Amino acid sequence: MSAVRRLTSAAIRARKGARFPVITAYDTPFARCAEAAGVDVILVGDSLGMVVLGYDSTTPVGLDDMCRHGAAVARGTTRAHVIVDMPFGSYETSDADAIRSAVALVRAGASSVKLEGGIAVAPRIAALVGAGIPVVAHIGVLPQTAAIGAGYRRKSDRAGLLADARAVEAAGAYAVVLEMVESAIAAEITRALAIPTIGIGAGAECDAQVLVLHDVLGLYADAPPFAKRYAELASVATNALRAYASDVRAGTFPAAPSAAEGGPSPAGGDAPVYTTASAPKA
Ligand code: KIV
Repeated sequence: MSAVRRLTSAAIRARKGARFPVITAYDTPFARCAEAAGVDVILVGDSLGMVVLGYDSTTPVGLDDMCRHGAAVARGTTRAHVIVDMPFGSYETSDADAIRSAVALVRAGASSVKLEGGIAVAPRIAALVGAGIPVVAHIGVLPQTAAIGAGYRRKSDRAGLLADARAVEAAGAYAVVLEMVESAIAAEITRALAIPTIGIGAGAECDAQVLVLHDVLGLYADAPPFAKRYAELASVATNALRAYASDVRAGTFPAAPSAAEGGPSPAGGDAPVYTTASAPKA
């Protein structure tokens, strides 16, 4: 295994003004794909709840879920910076609870953490940064509290959004996600801040863009309209599984066993025994 040497939050902050991609990932194989594709900032989002765990919102996702999936992404990467979402209920109650939750995420493999909110959570961001934990802020549409707010409607309160952005920057966040912020306002925030803005449904003027992996790959049926689909993996997977099922029903899989698969050994004697994990790669 190659040495682990991750992009730092300071290096990401220094990308202000340079366009860069961010993608979500939730497991080892797709984290490997992202890093192999040259995406060096990966977000383990609590969108996990919808796109992987089958919930209809992010609120059922717990700290254990984020630790498990954050660790899986960290194991699949050596250079990428792994941002892990602080889930609903893990940071609202007090600075001490927030620090305890963030430390658990860092111990699991997070390079930094992300939490939702503007002015209201700025003191919490300052406490986390004071404890030595790099923080990404998230303003605009806030999925964790969408049920009690304006839901998933695009945000256009210019003064409020600018105040939120300035507050999280002053609190020490090294970057800020702008979710579904009107593009002219996102552009103005991007010009006003010294830290990078990471847009999702917030127009082309943000420093970085982030999308949810399962939306990009065509693995999630309810993808938002702004998410460009670059592949249709759900139909690729369904077709592969249909072919497998049909082979089994027709008796064409498995084929007659070779010696390695337990058939008669040409040299005589017993064929070697492998577990699925130790079997030689084809
Ligand atoms: O949970 C997530 O995937 C996110 C992105 C939508 C920014 O927070």
